[in-house]
Amino acid sequence: MSEKGRAEKLQELKTQLEFYRDLGVDFLVSPRKPKGARPAAEAEAPLLLSYGSGSGPSAANQEEWERLIRRIMTCQACPLFKGRKQAVPGEGNRRAQLMFVGEAPGRDEDLQGKPFVGRAGQLLTRIIQAMGFSREGVYIANVIKCRPPENRTPKPEEIKACSPFLLRQIELIHPRVIVALGKVATDFFLQSPKSMSDLRGHFDQFQGIPVMPTFHPSYLVRNEGNKEIKKMVWEDMKKVLELLKS
Ligand code: URA
Ligand code: URA
Repeated sequence: MSEKGRAEKLQELKTQLEFYRDLGVDFLVSPRKPKGARPAAEAEAPLLLSYGSGSGPSAANQEEWERLIRRIMTCQACPLFKGRKQAVPGEGNRRAQLMFVGEAPGRDEDLQGKPFVGRAGQLLTRIIQAMGFSREGVYIANVIKCRPPENRTPKPEEIKACSPFLLRQIELIHPRVIVALGKVATDFFLQSPKSMSDLRGHFDQFQGIPVMPTFHPSYLVRNEGNKEIKKMVWEDMKKVLELLKS
């Protein structure tokens, strides 16, 4: 590795560790590595990478997914299709036990066609890693699949038009837990007049699936210096991990 590459790697690691410290992570879920016990590739893989449920996806299931993704990519059910570069269906393990649901694609997501790849996404990725998962081991989606202009909050009619997609994704994945990121996702599942501060940290149910509302990663980005918020998010994620272990 070049000197520059090494410096960048170190900086990245430092940022990651500082973030863990701010979260108040008091343990790391990464696998212990007994000396020589496993091949390097596996030792580096996150502990819960293939923490899926059930057996392999059936051919029918595969077809269902392909049809769903196609419908999302070509959808014109609300005016947001006019402004999109591409729709962002979601990505990850289609048999994930853990699913994260955000609000809507932003600029970076619209360009790349992937959820949570911008600034907030990097934060979400770190949170997922702190939990001992990888992005590939969980499923990440949004309530709406097209970017609203200037990243404004999605309108109720846009959410309504888009909701069959997320509902179908949840049906197909059937996760054991859903983490609702921010108020739009939380409202989608719980329709509560209460604030995020009141709702976060407590499981509720959506179609029999436990939902944990927590603050949106963008809210963490906007309140960068506020460690209390990060700690609250981590408290919420610890509850999610407890539930997954049970
Ligand atoms: N914010 C979201 O809610 N979703 C994304 O995919 C990116 C940012
Ligand atoms: N309001 C939101 O919409 N999301 C948060 O995460 C916090 C406050």
